Amino acid sequence: MRAVSVLRQRLSTGGRLLGQSQLLARNDVLRELFTSGCVRDASGALLDEAGGISLSYAEALYQLVRARKPQLAVEVGMANGISTLAILTGLRDSGSGGHLISIDPHQGRSWRGVGVLQVCRAGLEDHHTLVEEPDYLALPDLLRANTRVDFAYIDGWHTFDHALLNWWYLDKMLKPGGIVGFNDCRYRAVRRTISFLLTHRSYRELELGITPNILRAPWLWRSIRRVSGWTVTDRYFEKLDAWEPDWDFYAPF
Ligand SMILES: C[S@@+](CC[C@H](N)C(=O)[O-])C[C@H]1O[C@@H](n2cnc3c(N)ncnc32)[C@H](O)[C@@H]1O
Repeated sequence: MRAVSVLRQRLSTGGRLLGQSQLLARNDVLRELFTSGCVRDASGALLDEAGGISLSYAEALYQLVRARKPQLAVEVGMANGISTLAILTGLRDSGSGGHLISIDPHQGRSWRGVGVLQVCRAGLEDHHTLVEEPDYLALPDLLRANTRVDFAYIDGWHTFDHALLNWWYLDKMLKPGGIVGFNDCRYRAVRRTISFLLTHRSYRELELGITPNILRAPWLWRSIRRVSGWTVTDRYFEKLDAWEPDWDFYAPF
C-alpha cells in the first residue's frame, strides 16, 4: 500500500522535480511528504495518501508568493497543508513578514489536525491563522472586518456556487495588483467561475509556464493545449483595477 502511495506521488510530481525543487530544498516537512507520499499524524504514525496539490503546482505557488511578497494571503481548503506550507515558505523566504489565513471547516475532524501540525513542524505557525469555519461564513466575516488581501488561493469545495462565492468574496477584499489562484481548473465549475471573472471584472491571466506533471516538455504541452484546449490544474489571475460593472450589466460567460 505504501509503495503504491510513493509511486503515485512520484508520478504526480514528475519524479525529476523532486531533486530540482527550490521549495523542497527550503522545507524539510514538504520534502518528507513528497518523498514518502504520506503524512504523519500527532502520534508520528504514517498516514497513506498525502493528497493535496502536486509538487509542480506547490513549487509554482511558492515561487509566485516569494516573488510577489504579499502582506496577507488567504487560502480556502487546507487539508494536509501542502498549499499552506508552499505559501508560508514563500512568505518566509520573501522576507515580507506576511501572514496566511487558511479557511477549512474540517481541519480538526476530517484531517485530524495534520495540516496545522505540519505548519508547526515546519516552524511557520507564527505566520499562520486557521479559521475553522465553512467558506460561506468565514469569508463574509473577513470582509466585514475590512480585511485587505494581496494573494488568494482557492482549493475548497469545487461546486460552481462555492467556487464563484469564494472568488466573489475574495475579489471584494483583493487589492488591485493582487493575485487569485485556482486549483482544480479542469473542473467545469472552476472554469465557469474563471470565465465569469474574466468577463465581469478586470483581471489578466498570468503565464507561469506551469505544465502538467507528466508533460515536462513545454513545447509538447503548448501543442497539446492548442489542439485540445486542455488546461492545467492551477491558474493564476492578477486583478488589474477595482472596476465593477454597472447594476444591469451582463456578459455571456
Ligand atoms: C483538495 S482539499 C485542499 C488541499 C490543500 N489545498 C492542499 O494543497 O493540501 C479541499 C479542502 O476543502 C475543504 N473544504 C470542504 N468544504 C469546505 C468549505 N465549505 N469551506 C472551506 N473549505 C472546505 C476540505 O476540508 C479540504 O481540506
